[in-house]
Amino acid sequence: MADLAIDVRDLTKTYRTPFARRKVEALRGVTFQVEKGHIFGFVGPNGAGKTTTIRTLMGLIRPTGGSATILGKQLPSRAARFQVGFLPEAPYFYDYLTVAELCDLAGRLFGIPAAVRKKRADELIERVGLSRARGQALKKYSKGMLQRAGLAQALMNDPELVVLDEPMSGLDPIGRKEVRDLILSLRDQGKTVFFSTHILSDVEAITDRVAIIVKGELREHGTPGELVSRTVLGTDVMIRIAEAADVTALTDAGDRVRRKGDALSLTLPANADIDAWIAKAHAAGGKIVQVTPRHETLEDLFLRKVEDAKASPSPGGDT
Ligand SMILES: Nc1ncnc2c1ncn2[C@@H]1O[C@H](COP(=O)(O)OP(=O)(O)O)[C@@H](O)[C@H]1O
Ligand SMILES: [Mg+2]
Repeated sequence: MADLAIDVRDLTKTYRTPFARRKVEALRGVTFQVEKGHIFGFVGPNGAGKTTTIRTLMGLIRPTGGSATILGKQLPSRAARFQVGFLPEAPYFYDYLTVAELCDLAGRLFGIPAAVRKKRADELIERVGLSRARGQALKKYSKGMLQRAGLAQALMNDPELVVLDEPMSGLDPIGRKEVRDLILSLRDQGKTVFFSTHILSDVEAITDRVAIIVKGELREHGTPGELVSRTVLGTDVMIRIAEAADVTALTDAGDRVRRKGDALSLTLPANADIDAWIAKAHAAGGKIVQVTPRHETLEDLFLRKVEDAKASPSPGGDT
């Protein structure tokens, strides 16, 4: 087994609201592993259980069942917490602090000596692009600037593992790209990054592995490539064949048939025998130009998983 940054086994969490006497099964047996040095995307719609999982990993709430280790240490672990950088969802910072003060405060909590704190804060403020705004109070910051300030303070302890809860939420496309680039640069430094998001395009480009959580259960787990290659929607084929040739034998199995000059293209269904179809095309005098499987996109897969979960309502699954 590879070196694991996070190992979560059968985690469950049931919230009990004291007055409504209602139970919310926020996590129903969640199991996954995050390898060291990876970027791991934890994806799910609102209410899926992402923040609950992350708060459990940070030792902020106790799970109802199951276990977890962070950097090889069983939770809850103070020692592990010192090696983790954490950006909470919608972080709240003291309005009147500057980003330098915010970083300094985080550094103090980790017991970092003053000289090191200063140096690191300067580096991080530069790195997240807040140098010009470093003198301003955080209350003057935009949402994107606050998120970057939050990232800077999360990195003050030079963590081995960085946990970010919806780090791109509320950011414009440029802000999202900046956060993505920062995550990539953390991996380049050999760090592990675990982040949650409800937006799939955030994970497709940069993650080594993705887990999709819906209603407290993991529905998929794998590399982005694996997840999309599991579902072949059909195969696009294109051949060149004489305009006069009768192609009904080739086209009756497929759809989206297009014929233009000597080019014939169509989509064969997912269960088609491609070899047999190619043989038929050759026999008819056709030349194969292109055979391309069409995969479900990660977005399609995600939406399908959310729909599947809706179709199978489960008790206590409150959103
Ligand atoms: N403190 C709490 N008390 C009761 N229910 C909660 C609490 N926190 C979260 N929940 C519920 O648990 C479920 C999962 O929430 P959460 O982990 O915040 O999801 P996500 O971060 O994926 O949006 C939701 O149904 C939410 O309403
Ligand atoms: Mg959340």
